[in-house]
Amino acid sequence: MTLIADNPITLCTPSRVLCADGARHRIAPLCKSLGWRQALVVSDRWFTQNSPALAELLQTLEQQGIAAHVFDGGEPDPSTTLVDRATAWVREQGVAPDHVIAWGGGSNIDLAKALCVTVSSGRPVAELVGHANWPAPPLPLVAVPTTAGTGSEITPGAILIQPGSATKVALMANALRPAVAVIDPELTWSCPPRVTADAGLDALTHAIESWLTLDASAFDNAGDPDPGYSGRNEVTVMFAREATRLAFSHLATAFDHPKDRTARNAMARASLYAAMSYATAGLNAVHGLAYALAGLTHASHGSTNAVMLPYVMDALVEYRSDELADIARLAGAPEADVRTMARQAPVLTRELVRRLGLAGDLVTFGVTEDQLPGLIADGLSVTRLAKAWPGDPADEAYARIVRNAFFGQLSGETSR
Ligand SMILES: NC(=O)c1ccc[n+]([C@@H]2O[C@H](COP(=O)([O-])OP(=O)(O)OC[C@H]3O[C@@H](n4cnc5c(N)ncnc54)[C@H](O)[C@@H]3O)[C@@H](O)[C@H]2O)c1
Repeated sequence: MTLIADNPITLCTPSRVLCADGARHRIAPLCKSLGWRQALVVSDRWFTQNSPALAELLQTLEQQGIAAHVFDGGEPDPSTTLVDRATAWVREQGVAPDHVIAWGGGSNIDLAKALCVTVSSGRPVAELVGHANWPAPPLPLVAVPTTAGTGSEITPGAILIQPGSATKVALMANALRPAVAVIDPELTWSCPPRVTADAGLDALTHAIESWLTLDASAFDNAGDPDPGYSGRNEVTVMFAREATRLAFSHLATAFDHPKDRTARNAMARASLYAAMSYATAGLNAVHGLAYALAGLTHASHGSTNAVMLPYVMDALVEYRSDELADIARLAGAPEADVRTMARQAPVLTRELVRRLGLAGDLVTFGVTEDQLPGLIADGLSVTRLAKAWPGDPADEAYARIVRNAFFGQLSGETSR
């Protein structure tokens, strides 16, 4: 690995990242000190009906002299239709928010991010996706994740379903990174096991996929002076490695024991560190193919990532053997030669996926063989991800990955 000498260091993050049990109590005083007075709070009905922590936030905002307008119509995997409906709701309230507070999982955060753009721009979201020259700068965002996690509180993107589109679309620009990320592990204690598994495997995917991705020195920024994603460097790799270690050590405990403080804290950090890696380094084939699989099946984001991850890792054994051997070590593999260790990393990752009750191959996922060509083509069509593939030509690699994922074939199974 020649990461240190050859790769320029870039790190793009929100300007404030708070992470601690109870960090939520700092939100209202911080918003006041930043001079904000009109909050648009974006969440969903589960939280307005069940979350004392959200009720407490609304109370403390009022105590700080901040008027809060609550949109609680958030839905899993927000669509462009939902964004336009929520934008119309804000307009109907006759208020002009000076900041937005996102409260919930990645879905509510992405909806809030989109509203930061549409409310200030006054345009339908379909006119704003795919480019970043928006009519007005986005409103500042305070992102408060309740899952661990998507890392959306750190990233420059809002991922949306667009009716009629085979894959998800994105609003993407560094200006869309939240102004403040508030990660309070206590907010994740109420996550049901399914949500814990989905989100935790999403975080593990972010860590591993960005650890193995293209070097910054080889990344094509297409002349953009301010790219959101720009390849891995020594700093992103430090975050990715620690996130991987934490997720392999603590995700199963958080799944089995939702109120285990140590495990919830570790997973909140795993999610944060994974995002500190991928939100600069970027992602490639796992997410490209997962978006296509979600378009086909409408399954959850974490489950579509989890089923593809081991097969993408396996396809990189030739190109990233040292890193994969290290991942195997973090997953608990006994010492062996580098090649054997590297092949164990995908096997152990799939064991964790299945241990958490998710599908470890595409047949179990419900995909049929005739759907494979469409899946490969749709995955490749997400060119911003396919261009970061660090191995052999992306079209050949994606085809091999999808077939192996369908038949559940990993090269390390025979070497165990
Ligand atoms: N913008 C980005 O950079 C980025 C990155 C990764 C994923 N995403 C997006 O994030 C979404 C997935 O987010 P997610 O995995 O966090 O799930 P989610 O936000 O879709 O939430 C899933 C369900 O869990 C519930 N929930 C969330 N937190 C809870 C809690 N603490 N207690 C009880 N219930 C809770 C929600 O109400 C919802 O019903 C996808 O739409 C994906 O595309 C975005």
